[in-house]
Amino acid sequence: MNLSYFVKKFPLEESFPIKSRPYFNHSVEFKKISTSKERAEMLDRVGLNVFFFPSEMITGCDFLSDSGTTTMTNEQWAALHLGDEAYGSNRGYFILREQITNLFGDGFFNALELARPNAFIFHQGRPCEDALFTVIGQLGRGLIIPGNGHFDTTEANIKENHIQAVNLFSQELKDGNSKSFFKGNMDVIALKKLLTVSKAKIPLVFLTITNNTGGGQPVSMQNIKEVSEITHFYKIPLFFDACRFAENAWFIKRYEKDYRNKTIKEIVQEMFNFVDGFIISFKKDGLVNMGGGLFLKDRGLFIKKYPHIPDALMNYQIRTEGHPSYGGMSGRDIMTLTIGLKTVIKEEYLDYRINQVRAFGKNMQEEGIPVLMPIGGHAVYLDINKFFDGTNMKQGDFGGIAFTALLLANYGYRACELGCFAFGSHNPETTEEIFPEVNFVRFAVPRLRYEKQDLDSAVIAVKKLHEDKDKIPPIEVTYGKDLPLRHFKARFRFKSQKIK
Ligand code: F0G
Repeated sequence: MNLSYFVKKFPLEESFPIKSRPYFNHSVEFKKISTSKERAEMLDRVGLNVFFFPSEMITGCDFLSDSGTTTMTNEQWAALHLGDEAYGSNRGYFILREQITNLFGDGFFNALELARPNAFIFHQGRPCEDALFTVIGQLGRGLIIPGNGHFDTTEANIKENHIQAVNLFSQELKDGNSKSFFKGNMDVIALKKLLTVSKAKIPLVFLTITNNTGGGQPVSMQNIKEVSEITHFYKIPLFFDACRFAENAWFIKRYEKDYRNKTIKEIVQEMFNFVDGFIISFKKDGLVNMGGGLFLKDRGLFIKKYPHIPDALMNYQIRTEGHPSYGGMSGRDIMTLTIGLKTVIKEEYLDYRINQVRAFGKNMQEEGIPVLMPIGGHAVYLDINKFFDGTNMKQGDFGGIAFTALLLANYGYRACELGCFAFGSHNPETTEEIFPEVNFVRFAVPRLRYEKQDLDSAVIAVKKLHEDKDKIPPIEVTYGKDLPLRHFKARFRFKSQKIK
């Protein structure tokens, strides 16, 4: 008898409740040690704004962002050495062109020599937004860009160009009890209504996959299809903000019946078939620390409608970033990206990645901590209104800011308020605060960085604060409440500090 005969007599590894990770550590970094007293003193110095807190003092996990915080693979570190830093048409540029074409479809990356530019590399996501909305802003006044939930920099870049940003969050996202797996969808009824009335003012529609502002929730293929049909019926181009395209594709495979037997790559190609262009920060699903791009579909509706825009974008790119063949990226960063785009669509990677985030969220839920369910692809979102239920904390007391400060000072974990403060605003005339529809603290999980033990201990830390939520004091803003993008810049203190 050969061994295969006996192997079949035992259960498969797939049935195990815990499986070994699909990778092992290539290099590690030991943390520095800091005490809660030192962290509290530092946080006081930086006015409780966690963005200004030195990362080297973080003894737990840094959940501030999943952007640019990826641990690279050994292949990526090796690829750095293959970087070609030539000023024009470096080696990586050609490999990237092949990769983008292979992954997202034929029309998105013309050769530069064709003189029909449609691919623009930038150093990260927001300069792509700046470029696109600057040239769109020049089309006229009174424009509107609807989305399923614009990210904060996207919205800021839209507004900067005197365009109105409208968020059409799905009803399922707003309904706390909905069990939908695709709460990131766009509300198509609201979209139809808006287009019927204002189609002439809408230069394009934006779908963010996954929907970061809307709780990191994915968008279904069905919604992508419907939105595309509606926008194209009105002759309006559709764009993706595609930062987390692979994670979104994983949810489609998992939860939409026609996609179970398709590969992630096939799903990605189908998704991108429906759009006329996309913006991407490669710092997320590019699995790199820096990089971004803006891609327009050759002969797609956007280019047809605005034939002058590719050249305007290229002028913008040359003026602000560099020659179009490297954009804002170094040759070595481009090389790491070409590997990252291959790794990110591997199912064993995505299965591990998303299940890790989901297990983290589920653990919190089992401890009675109110988190947005179902858990999305890159982060766990703590529902701050529910967290403070039964206490005197009001929305204007910015409980999310108080929570993040205490979590960092006491336990050494950094999370980020994305709620009443970050998405709210202050009206200096009425001195009133305007509150957003969502009030979260986000725990974004960096890719390939933390192990189960790290996340389990983070849950204990959150649980401790939840049990003692009565003792968490309100916050007052000491600087910056009326500034744009205020959460990056503001300073705070605990209200009781003033009384002392
Ligand atoms: N769009 C989305 C959906 C994003 O999540 C981000 C960044 C951007 C655009 C901008 O890209 O940072 O490369 O300029 N999100 C990070 C975050 C910062 O923490 O969610 P960028």
